[in-house]
Amino acid sequence: MKNPRKFWIVNEDVEKYIRNTLKSSSRFLMELEQYAEINNVPIMTKETKCLIEIIGWLQKPERILEIGTAIGYSSICFSNFLAADGSIETIEIDSDLALIARDNIKKADLAQVISVIVGEGTDVLTNIDKKYDMIFIDAAKGQYETFFDLCSPMINPGGIIISDNVLYRGMVARGETVPRRKKHLVERLDQFIKKVMEDDRFDSSLLSIGDGVLLSYRKDYDE
Ligand SMILES: C[S@@+](CC[C@H](N)C(=O)[O-])C[C@H]1O[C@@H](n2cnc3c(N)ncnc32)[C@H](O)[C@@H]1O
Repeated sequence: MKNPRKFWIVNEDVEKYIRNTLKSSSRFLMELEQYAEINNVPIMTKETKCLIEIIGWLQKPERILEIGTAIGYSSICFSNFLAADGSIETIEIDSDLALIARDNIKKADLAQVISVIVGEGTDVLTNIDKKYDMIFIDAAKGQYETFFDLCSPMINPGGIIISDNVLYRGMVARGETVPRRKKHLVERLDQFIKKVMEDDRFDSSLLSIGDGVLLSYRKDYDE
């Protein structure tokens, strides 16, 4: 896969340069990247993958939760830095995609490690009563605020919530020049980012990597 990105949120030359410095993925992940590109399935960018891998290697999470499985690409990537005996739960609304993800997870010999939960993110999150060290929010952008609110009590102190695509092709930063049909979504993302940045339970950092990544480190905070 040469260069599948069709948008650049900062500077095309700089982003292309950075992307070209990244190591190639394993053969299996490369197959998934190609499948995603051919079938128009959105998966995290390679820059985002590298960033999360570094965080993961430093943190070595035991329990990871993901909202937005797609074909299982990100959860398979996360299994690399998972602590021994760790587990990943990933939520997907689309049952056809969930089937593909389960098949990929099986091929990667990770069926004992990664569980795909089929359902709507908000509904599933409302019924989860567990704690996680890392939560990856990568599903319906209009619901990020709700997902984050539901995930906040589930993250252990010292854990991290990673919200992907928060700059939405740079539109969140561009404000007035956003097409009308996207305005509401962009306003919701803007509101979400500002709310999380001010949340005292977390130290957050907004990065212009990939499609915009918001990192929120959970402090040891009494509610
Ligand atoms: C960007 S893709 C996930 C990509 C994946 N995390 C990766 O990087 O390989 C977003 C996925 O979220 C799913 N999704 C959208 N809205 C959802 C919701 N409300 N609840 C659960 N999943 C949802 C979509 O069907 C889609 O597969």
